[in-house]
This record gives sequence, C-alpha cells and structure tokens, in this order.
Amino acid sequence: MSRIFSGIQPSGELHIGNYLGAIKNWVALQQQHTGAIFCVVDYHAITGNYDPAVLRQRRWDMARSLFAAGLDPERASVFVQSDVPEHTELSWIFTTFTPLGDLERQTQFKDKSGTMESIPAGLLMYPVLQAADILLYRADAVPVGEDQVQHLELSRDIARKWNARFGEDFFPEPKPLLTPTRRILGLDGKAKMSKSLGNTIGLLESDEEIWQKLRPAVTDPNRVRKTDPGNPEVCNIFQLHKAFSPAETVADVDTQCRSAGWGCIDCKKVLHANMVAELTPIRTRAQQLAEEPARVLDALASGASTARGIAQETMREVKTRMGLDPVRQG
Ligand code: TRP
Repeated sequence: MSRIFSGIQPSGELHIGNYLGAIKNWVALQQQHTGAIFCVVDYHAITGNYDPAVLRQRRWDMARSLFAAGLDPERASVFVQSDVPEHTELSWIFTTFTPLGDLERQTQFKDKSGTMESIPAGLLMYPVLQAADILLYRADAVPVGEDQVQHLELSRDIARKWNARFGEDFFPEPKPLLTPTRRILGLDGKAKMSKSLGNTIGLLESDEEIWQKLRPAVTDPNRVRKTDPGNPEVCNIFQLHKAFSPAETVADVDTQCRSAGWGCIDCKKVLHANMVAELTPIRTRAQQLAEEPARVLDALASGASTARGIAQETMREVKTRMGLDPVRQG
C-alpha cells in the first residue's frame, strides 16, 4: 500500500484551477488510500517578498477550503507545514549533498529567478524542502500536476543518494501521481488560470458571479456566428465540461458544438448548471466552517499531531544512521 503525500501553497484565492488541478483529486484519493497526508506549505510561500498578515489569512483560507472541498480529517491528515519543524530539519540535511547544478537546472527556479536582481537562496533550495516534505513521511506517491515532475525527479535523486550513503532502502523513491485533469486555462483561453492575470473563477464565488465570468469567456476563436460549427478540442469551455459535467453531457456537448446545434451561450448554460451543482455544497460548507472556526483548527491540530509522530520517528532513524543521535561517551 503506497503512502500519499502532497502539498499546496497558501497563495492567493483558491480558484477552480487549483481545485481541479489538485484538491478534487486529493478528495478522491483519500477514499482509496487511508493515511494520506496533505500539507499547506507555508515555508514554501515565503521565498519571495510577502506580507505576514496576508500569509496568515491565506493559510486559514486554504485550510478552510480544503475541508470545505471534502478533505476528511477522519481519513486524511491535513496540517500546516510550519507546525512540524522536522520539515526544515530534514531539508538542511538534504542540502548538504544536493549538487548546486541540479538546483540551478530546475525550470521553475530559472523562470522565477530570471528577472531577479538578488536571488534569495531559499528560491534555489525550494525543491530540497519539497523533497524533505515528501521523504519525512517516506511517501512513495505524490499527486501533483505536470509542472512538478522535475521537482519529483530531484526528490528521487535525493532519496537514492541518501540511501546509498546511509541506509539501503530507507527512503522510497517517490513517484508523481499525475492529476487526471489537464492544466486548466483561464477564461481568456490562453494563459494558465491565475489570480494575478484576473482570468479565474474563485472556488467560493456565487452562482451569479460564476455566470458573469463564464458568459464572456473565450471559446473556439473560429466560431464567430452561432451557425459556424465549432471545434471542442480547442475550446476551454469544453475542457471545463470535461471537469464538471457527466460523461453523457460531455459527449452531447461535443456533438452539439461540431454540428452548431448549440450556440456557445447554450453550452455555457449547461456548464454553469453543472458547476453550480458541484460548487454549491463546497461554498455552503466553507460558510459553516467560517462560523465554526474551531472545527478547522481542531482538524489541523490533529493532522499536525499525526504528522509529527511520523516525522519524529523518521528523524530519529535518519539522525542515528548519520551519527547525529544523542551524544554519549565515545
Ligand atoms: N511545489 C509544489 C507546487 O508548487 C508545492 C509543494 C511543496 C509540494 N511541497 C510539496 C507538492 C510536496 C507535493 C509534495 O505546487
């Protein structure tokens, strides 16, 4: 039985891109895998300039949304990274043998650091902390999107190197468990969904707000008039149907679009109904949790306690094998 671990940054508003790209998948996975561990990675979120009050708010919003979306503290452990100090402890150990060149080669590092005048070392070490997150729980399956595949490769290198030097097979080599939904584009149909681009639909937005955003959303650019047949493969609305609508509806949309049976607005109305059906219960639960914050805090505390138990056991073993166990007379 594999152990699942994944992390999400408490960055910005939780939108349907994050939901479909990660959280919806986590909610499904907790059913099949008991003891899955999910982490709000606040230490990963401080590698750039940030406002402490904003971070504090975002951690809370993320935690509340994770439970609202269906993560169940009875099935999975959900906690905040900085509540378990072993993450940073193991991360330091891993930095001591991770080649600088491997870190400089990471696409995400190159993209983020490219235009910076002064690059924080933490940005370079980011994937080492990620390896520590995963290996601390000796997790072997990590649900992530495509963009994290390279980071996971580095986690496997780190596991392999440590094992070769200090203890055969102690750390498993964690594999990505790719999210079934393809990367969701923003409502402009061009760029990845991202708050800073203003092309998102928030996870907790009202039915009316969702419609106001869907209505003008970009579809197949070659479909100018309602009578023009469309190509669902190039339409972002069709991708959203695949994520929110039942298979029969998706097949129907495909036919109706290609034959110009439905106009884009008809198609969006059907999508809207299916989105509302899925998102309304999440919004209702999020409201309830805002009224009863203790439920979120208790769930996080219990998640952190479970996580700490595993983390401490791993660190005991790691330190013993590395000659870092409690000092005694030689
Ligand atoms: N780097 C991941 C992202 O940007 C977040 C993350 C941090 C993570 N630690 C992790 C994901 C451990 C999976 C496992 O999405």
